[in-house]
Amino acid sequence: MLGLRLLTDPRWANIAETNLEEILTDHAWCEQKAASNAISLITQNSEHQDLVHELTAIAIEEMQHFQLVIDIIKQRGYTLGRERKDDYVNQLMKFTKKDGSRNTAFIDRLLFAAMIEARSCERFRVLSQNIKDKELAKFYHDLMVSEASHYTTFLNFARRYTIDVDVDRRWKEWLIFEGELIKSYGKKEHIHG
Ligand SMILES: [Fe+2]
Ligand SMILES: [Fe+2]
Repeated sequence: MLGLRLLTDPRWANIAETNLEEILTDHAWCEQKAASNAISLITQNSEHQDLVHELTAIAIEEMQHFQLVIDIIKQRGYTLGRERKDDYVNQLMKFTKKDGSRNTAFIDRLLFAAMIEARSCERFRVLSQNIKDKELAKFYHDLMVSEASHYTTFLNFARRYTIDVDVDRRWKEWLIFEGELIKSYGKKEHIHG
């Protein structure tokens, strides 16, 4: 799925379902961070008009996802907790190339975003197929479709804007790195936990 090397053990969804308040809180903040990430990319790369337009739409969509999640939290009588740390995303961030040319760093930021979208999409799929809560199963199915389209957008921008990066080769490196990294996860009621 989306080139991912390792698929999530469906039993992770059962762990997630034991603490819906926690997974929903963590999920809400994932959406907020996705919006912030799109806004940073816009700010730092404003010379690319197409990117500014498409990432504005994505930032808005991610905040709409945030709104949907906080609505569910409210409807169910849960409380939105404080922002959760996302260790998985922090590890991915360490893998991004910060030296080299401006273009190299830019392309890697796009691949970083594509990677998170791909894994989030896969996790939403696992939730939609395995949790017993029908309302949430449908919700996660709809989000899965949306995150898959974001994944494609980020990867396509990397291909379009590259000057000195072999995107297919670098994307393969990302997939291999993530495939190893994700082996330590899948045990916690967090979207990337
Ligand atoms: Fe989202
Ligand atoms: Fe997304």
